[in-house]
Amino acid sequence: AGVVTLDPGFTNTGSCESSITYIDGDRGILRYRGYPIEQLAKNSSFLEVAYLLIYGELPDAATLEQFIRRIQRHRLLHEDFKAFFTAFPHDGHPMAILQAGVAGLATYYEDTLDPRDPEQLSEAAVLLIAKMPTMISYIAKRAAGLPLLYPDSQRGYAEDFIRMTFGMPYQAYDIDPALVRALDMLLILHADHEQNCSTSTVRLVGSSQANLYASVASGVGALAGPLHGGANEAVLRMLTQIRDSGDTVQSFVDKVKNKAEGVRLMGFGHRVYKNYDPRAAIVKDAAHDVLTRLGKKDDLLDIAMELEGIALADDYFKERKLYPNVDFYTGLIYSAMGFPTKMFTPLFALGRLPGWIAQYKEMAEDPATKIGRPRQVYIGEAERSYVPLRQRS
Ligand code: CMC
Repeated sequence: AGVVTLDPGFTNTGSCESSITYIDGDRGILRYRGYPIEQLAKNSSFLEVAYLLIYGELPDAATLEQFIRRIQRHRLLHEDFKAFFTAFPHDGHPMAILQAGVAGLATYYEDTLDPRDPEQLSEAAVLLIAKMPTMISYIAKRAAGLPLLYPDSQRGYAEDFIRMTFGMPYQAYDIDPALVRALDMLLILHADHEQNCSTSTVRLVGSSQANLYASVASGVGALAGPLHGGANEAVLRMLTQIRDSGDTVQSFVDKVKNKAEGVRLMGFGHRVYKNYDPRAAIVKDAAHDVLTRLGKKDDLLDIAMELEGIALADDYFKERKLYPNVDFYTGLIYSAMGFPTKMFTPLFALGRLPGWIAQYKEMAEDPATKIGRPRQVYIGEAERSYVPLRQRS
């Protein structure tokens, strides 16, 4: 056997070549297919960005319309699938239900499972983008004990997701277009982030030629962890805890620095960004806009800003180059929009979906792809002889 190089956490191991997303962590730069995230967040739409990530170029008007229409046509879930949502405790974590639901989609669409067939892969991609919002809104509705709504193909993607999550049957539901735009923009910001934990998971699972649904479901599982997508939920819990404890923000920061209770400043730090996460800067502005728009004053936003100010001025965070990441301010917006805390990470999953699909597709099309199979350095016992049970002391 050759020499195996250990790299725990893969801090310095490239697993693939990719043309999808570029990050310069020292300069705080993020680009999808060459386009700066700031320009896409300002000017594009989530489905256009999904197309860009998956197919590599911005679509022309007709292509985009066709792509959107294909997605709109498939937003229904099979009627039998509704029973699925009742099989879990109503307060079960949405990410667990989402992961199971995404994997289960494969059973309904067995002619879309072969990643080597471009048509099947394209169909699976459309089905997933179409059905995931429906699924997430059903999870939210069931958690609240409220009636499920069917998709309305006349409405936009983010708009109808909001309607399905918060609307009621036989009741007109007017949605503030500024909120729709804010959600769409947040989805854009989450749409890809090269070889992060969940995306690497999608690729690793997909490298065995597992179908797209199984691979994306694995990504949902990875994303649920508090060090990854679960951080958006953890941030809001942290801010709430600080508020309710009556302690000062400074004393919380001191606790983090002492590392006494293993408390981390959630929403801070990143493997790649050693500078302000460009997504966090956009989200911070959006949080102010949305709260102002809704006429809401959130004392958690004040705590978040104080926390950021203290941390950025503190040597502990400076030395380690810890800055706010995308998860730091998103929860405040989701919460102002009415999403329960437990629904935050599914929103991240919905945003990251095009990235997972694009990366899976890129891998499936890359002739250099081999099944993912890391090696290890064995540090266990050398050979020894089995001891019968009676003779063990
Ligand atoms: N609070 C306090 N200390 C921190 C933090 C934090 N949030 N993040 C890193 N550190 C310290 C860490 O203790 C270590 O210090 P020392 O050298 O004294 O041991 C140093 O900074 C380097 O940290 P690391 O754990 O080696 O860094 P990593 O690249 O392995 O981890 C991270 C990256 C994102 C998991 C980590 O920064 C973290 O746990 N952050 C909090 C959770 C979070 O916000 N996650 C969302 C990430 S961005 C979006 C996403 O992926 O979902």
